[in-house]
Amino acid sequence: MRASIAGRLRAAGCVFAEDEADLLIAAASGPEQLDDMVQRRAAGLPLEHVVGWAEFCGLRIAVGPGVFVPRRRSEFLAGQAIAAVRQSAPSGPWLVVDLCCGSGAVGVAVAARLSTLGPVELHAADIDPAAVQCAQANVATVGGTVYQGDLYDALPAGLAGRVGVLVVNAPYVPTGEIALMPPEARLHEPLVALDGGPDGVMLHRRVAAAAPDWLAAGGCLLIETSERQSQQTAAAMTAAGLTAAVSADEELDATVVIGTLADGA
Ligand SMILES: C[S@@+](CC[C@H](N)C(=O)[O-])C[C@H]1O[C@@H](n2cnc3c(N)ncnc32)[C@H](O)[C@@H]1O
Repeated sequence: MRASIAGRLRAAGCVFAEDEADLLIAAASGPEQLDDMVQRRAAGLPLEHVVGWAEFCGLRIAVGPGVFVPRRRSEFLAGQAIAAVRQSAPSGPWLVVDLCCGSGAVGVAVAARLSTLGPVELHAADIDPAAVQCAQANVATVGGTVYQGDLYDALPAGLAGRVGVLVVNAPYVPTGEIALMPPEARLHEPLVALDGGPDGVMLHRRVAAAAPDWLAAGGCLLIETSERQSQQTAAAMTAAGLTAAVSADEELDATVVIGTLADGA
């Protein structure tokens, strides 16, 4: 059975056909569901949408249809956020906000790790109702709350000036490059999750500009970006009065810009 499923997946262009066959066999409740799952995967649906979850930072994150699939490279963003917040407040309590949260993977990974070290409170927000619904299940596992709305408009006013770490993986694909993305993303993830505006940095500018109103003194904003766009993302943070630094991981092909609000700000 495994060999024939792997053959169907390979013929459809799945590079890791054997591994995917194992995942589908484990996820299916019976032969009919398995056949349906193989068909949907062979038709090009992301594996994570077929099985209903993605592995992220060692956690199983639920990912519903039409919700952005958390990428392995964003594990770097989560790791950097954990390191940054621990530096500013070694034993907590920590107030974490995940803006543009999608499934909530990044915020959940940060809060799950921090919760082994001290008290943590997670707030997550997204503009897309499908993402918010999906994030609710994931964020509940760490006792957090999810809101729907445009960037900071979604957050309760009482968080202003109190956020220790603000993690953001907003869309950063330039509009003109979306057509060049792999079909799995282009056809099965919503445009609102991909489109970063003409130069891909539109949302980064908006996030950075208002960050000082939400961060606590010494708090950090971390934005995932690309190596190519990192100087523009950093410039947006500097213009907002944050001290910006670029951090990168070659193996994960990941770039994060970290902006810190001065301690006495
Ligand atoms: C690239 S996805 C990242 C999702 C998640 N942070 C992750 O890393 O898996 C970007 C997310 O930003 C959300 N988004 C786009 N524009 C937004 C806005 N103006 N306000 C809030 N969320 C927004 C999209 O709905 C999408 O879920």
